[in-house]
Amino acid sequence: MAKTERVEVFLSAADLNARVAEMGRAIEALPPTEQPLVLICVLKGSILFFADLVRNLQRPVHLVFLGVSSYAGGTETSGAVRLTHDLTLDIAGRDVVIVEDIVDTGLTMSYLLHNLESRGPRSVAVCTLLHKPARQKIAVPLTWVGFTIEDVFVVGYGLDYEERYRNLPYIGVMHFD
Ligand code: IMP
Repeated sequence: MAKTERVEVFLSAADLNARVAEMGRAIEALPPTEQPLVLICVLKGSILFFADLVRNLQRPVHLVFLGVSSYAGGTETSGAVRLTHDLTLDIAGRDVVIVEDIVDTGLTMSYLLHNLESRGPRSVAVCTLLHKPARQKIAVPLTWVGFTIEDVFVVGYGLDYEERYRNLPYIGVMHFD
């Protein structure tokens, strides 16, 4: 029998809005930097979070995009991370914040940290909306975490299941009935 997909609301738009504003205040409170803070949006999952987060900042910022792909499709990571779009800014000597949707096994973030550190930034901080510690395979330093969640597969607010659901204004748990 064909399986039916069902999305149950988990974090409402209001929950997200409140927490993202708090995270914005934490970034805003960082010590001033000589050059604008570089915020890296990790495509595609972080697009909605990134857009809302940066609206809460008044300090000078440079916004850049980095594309990575780690899923072959479905709900399990393939483990192999691939760069699909590189930065259009030299981050040597710059203060950088990686903005990520979710840290699950940690493999993607570990790859990103190694890749970005090799470019000689002055500092690198990580801002992730969600963290699923139950599935961690590799420990990565997370500077700010929006919500720590159980081992559930979530969609919406940028997160997808086979490229769908990214446009939902809330985060939902995906059920396969
Ligand atoms: P990691 O490498 O296992 O930490 O996975 C990171 C990436 O996997 C994230 O950037 C997401 O794109 C994706 N991912 C992990 N868990 C979920 C989930 O529950 N829903 C949707 N995507 C997820």
